[in-house]
Amino acid sequence: MDFRELRKKYIDFFKTKGHSHIASASLIPENDPTVLFTTAGMHPLVPYLLGLDHPEGKRIVNYQKCIRTGDIDDVGDASHLTFFEMLGNWSLGDYFKKEAINWSFEFLTKILGFDITNLHVTVFEGDNDAPRDEESASYWADLGIPRERIHYKPKKDNWWGPAGNTGPCGPDTEMFIDTGKEDCSAECGPGCGCGKFFEIWNDVFMQYNKNPDGTFVPLKQQNVDTGMGIERTVAMLSGKRTVYDTESFTPIITKIEELSGKKYGESDEVTKAIRIIADHSRTSTFIIGDQRGVAPSNVGAGYVLRRLIRRAIRYGKKLGIKPTFLSEIAKVIIEMMHPFYPELKINEKRIYEELDREENKFEETLEKGIHEFEKIVPKLIENKQDTISGRLAFKLYDTYGFPYEFTKELAEEKGLKVDEAGFKEASLKHRELSQQAQTQSFKGGLADNSEETTKLHTATHLLHKALKIVLGEHVNQKGSNITAERLRFDFTHTEKMTPDQLKKVEDIVNEQIKRKLTVTMDVMTLEDAKKKGATALFTDKYEQQVKVYTIGDFSMEVCGGPHVTNTSDLGGFKIQKEEASSAGVRRIKAVLVK
Ligand code: SER
Repeated sequence: MDFRELRKKYIDFFKTKGHSHIASASLIPENDPTVLFTTAGMHPLVPYLLGLDHPEGKRIVNYQKCIRTGDIDDVGDASHLTFFEMLGNWSLGDYFKKEAINWSFEFLTKILGFDITNLHVTVFEGDNDAPRDEESASYWADLGIPRERIHYKPKKDNWWGPAGNTGPCGPDTEMFIDTGKEDCSAECGPGCGCGKFFEIWNDVFMQYNKNPDGTFVPLKQQNVDTGMGIERTVAMLSGKRTVYDTESFTPIITKIEELSGKKYGESDEVTKAIRIIADHSRTSTFIIGDQRGVAPSNVGAGYVLRRLIRRAIRYGKKLGIKPTFLSEIAKVIIEMMHPFYPELKINEKRIYEELDREENKFEETLEKGIHEFEKIVPKLIENKQDTISGRLAFKLYDTYGFPYEFTKELAEEKGLKVDEAGFKEASLKHRELSQQAQTQSFKGGLADNSEETTKLHTATHLLHKALKIVLGEHVNQKGSNITAERLRFDFTHTEKMTPDQLKKVEDIVNEQIKRKLTVTMDVMTLEDAKKKGATALFTDKYEQQVKVYTIGDFSMEVCGGPHVTNTSDLGGFKIQKEEASSAGVRRIKAVLVK
């Protein structure tokens, strides 16, 4: 079975169960500044899990393109991928555990042909937040799964979500195939990493909402969210050792072999390099070719893209591939995948152009940068030092375009470390200087839209925080839209705001403007931002670099910017309108007055 067949079988099966097939959503989440990429099929569906009506109805099926960049550095082994496809079926307040489990069972045994004797399942064992999931267990038992193959597990194994700190989540039931390998130990069972048990599918019962205070409250509707990774399931079904041995990758690998004259499998080093190039060029093709595609840059999703492309180029060099080669590989990927993701064909030209541009740009400095790096290494070793200074890491970044992680990887290959704090300090200093220069040029008479929108951006942060103070911590950004004239802010709150509440919010914002608070920006991982208490809507656990804007002692928010440097620039703040936007979401329009 290949990825085309599995996809078709899955979609067709759920269509016969009354599901509407919807297109894969963008890889770049809308209205969510805190997550760089869509990491699971449920992510774009969150508003509907919370109660908004989906135009396609209550039963949805799709394949969703996903990116998880938490372990870019592990790519190259047999299993890690940064881009993958996830099959999913959803009940948006419609069917629940019984149907979900019965259909999963039917698909696995009847359509995919798995022998029931190899099927193990896990269910939630229960804790203070939610009861033991005897209901799911009983459905599995009714289907003929013996009790010893129904395993009860704690929250860390059998609970999914929320995608960030707060939001829809719930207990799940996971399905495992016993591959027939020997037990690795007496404790070996589903979830063990030894490879005996293969996790094929996850049915999540999203019936709770996690609140900011850590409590779990029942959602107003009971939902189902399931996920099956295409690449790994195909590998398993076709008896391939790794995802790279499946049809999702073989044409890409053949192309890399052709370009490099090397053979996949000829040595561990070559195999690893080919896998990295294959994975990274696939992910890059999908990011650029997305319906909301981005180009390589030094921030956010663009930065991750740059890292992927530059890492692929470096490994291309190791294999002796001549530039420019990434667009050649992209061509193979587009041919393979455009029947499922038409945006790749629509954006084909842009994909080639961006890849070529980035490759040419990096080509100019890569050799020089490596030369600079290699000059330093013997000196460090001579002086018995084991750390590359932050200053040098920043020079490699700024002058030669080496992403920090890239320098770290080069250093690790030589047994060296990099002074990360020093790097951050150097880059922050640099950013501050260029930000000041930018502000100067605004002040120098360029009183254009960008100055107004920059101010409104900062006002939005003040408003967000003021709403949390007045209405409560449940207030979260759902959307933001800024023109030169006004800001529009959508946020979670169920009731209409009273005139008194509106006045309080306005007063709080104006007070912060009067306090002349300094606005500063810091670059850090999302994890660190969370630890510092920055507001972040959908945070995920991956190590992505984000910008955090701090407004005095008042607000700290993950955001792409730009912002003013002092709140006094804002003048005065006035709310013009407060209205409903959609179920459970209110909308405020506000302006700045002189
Ligand atoms: N959200 C769950 C997952 O990613 C099920 O789709 O596994």
